[in-house]
Amino acid sequence: MSASKYALSPVVAAVETSCDETACAVWARGKIAGERVYSQWRLHRRFGGVVPEIAARDHIRRLLPLFAELLEECGETPDRIAYTAGPGLAGALLAGAATANALAFAWGIPAVPVNHLTGHILSPLLARPDFAFPYLALLASGGHTQIWLARGADDFSLLGATLDDAAGEAFDKTAVLLGLEYPGGAKLEKLAAKGNAQNFSLPSPAQKNLNFSFSGLKSAVRRLAAQEPNRAADIAAAFQAAAAEGLARQAARAMQKTGAARIAAVGGVAQNNAVWRELQRQCAGADLHRPKPAHCGDNAAMIALAAALQIKKTKTKKPGNTQNDYAFEIYPRWQPGETAPKF
Ligand code: KG4
Ligand code: ZN
Repeated sequence: MSASKYALSPVVAAVETSCDETACAVWARGKIAGERVYSQWRLHRRFGGVVPEIAARDHIRRLLPLFAELLEECGETPDRIAYTAGPGLAGALLAGAATANALAFAWGIPAVPVNHLTGHILSPLLARPDFAFPYLALLASGGHTQIWLARGADDFSLLGATLDDAAGEAFDKTAVLLGLEYPGGAKLEKLAAKGNAQNFSLPSPAQKNLNFSFSGLKSAVRRLAAQEPNRAADIAAAFQAAAAEGLARQAARAMQKTGAARIAAVGGVAQNNAVWRELQRQCAGADLHRPKPAHCGDNAAMIALAAALQIKKTKTKKPGNTQNDYAFEIYPRWQPGETAPKF
């Protein structure tokens, strides 16, 4: 039994395998003691998107060696092991859940299922423990585009969401249209830097209330790319400007509606500098934060942090006390705050 076992400040090891990043992290004495992220994007590139079966198999291949290397480097003895239980790809989630639960059983410590979106929503606290609740989280990634009001470590309200594609998906699809390789978000940003956003006007993804829709923008950009095959940089710039304006507009509206003084941009698309500048312009006066690039994209540090914050409130059982405790579940469609997610 480790000296830190059940101490006030837990040592939490975490694994994240919800999509195409294999990641692990260790949280000790109130901060991240070490982490690893391995991105599978090269495996999926030629398919133009993540192939679930390939993702699951590669997590199985990579996770244990990556985790063993990290634990040896950190020299910490975990007293909890957290894992992403959803939302995400079922096979990919199973790879992480099975690994985490097997280790928890072998080490005689509790396994803690964590919601991936909760991890993103709490990720600002990795670098800014002073980023006090309540705050708004604009979560824009390859799979989600949502605005959350975070009142506490496990107290969230969904204020708005995309009605169709996620922002990252729109970036990726537009990138393919413009001849860039998947995943195209960052490549589109580079191309946009060479273009002029003023040359074309594209529809905003901001909808009524605090929702988003990227389908109109996507169709418009497809028509434009067909009409103007030699203007890729200008089209990239116009697309990025429209996406950034819409994301920031809804964040600003959410700020007005809730009176929140702090806004965090989280998820892969938060790395986009046009989105960030537009947020600074439209949400002037707010305490704005975005995690460092490695913590905007998928990572296990945010899962460890979420588990550490939630452990303070929830009692987790050690696996193996009853036969039922050997079981574990994954929740591919789990929303933060939902208690009985459906498979
Ligand atoms: O959060 P994330 O790493 O994975 C999940 O989807 O959960 O987000 C990946 C998404 C991809 O769609 C990628 O193209 C987009 O984030 N992305 C960007 C940028 N960097 C990554 N989108 C726009 N500009 C960027 N610089
Ligand atoms: Zn994510």
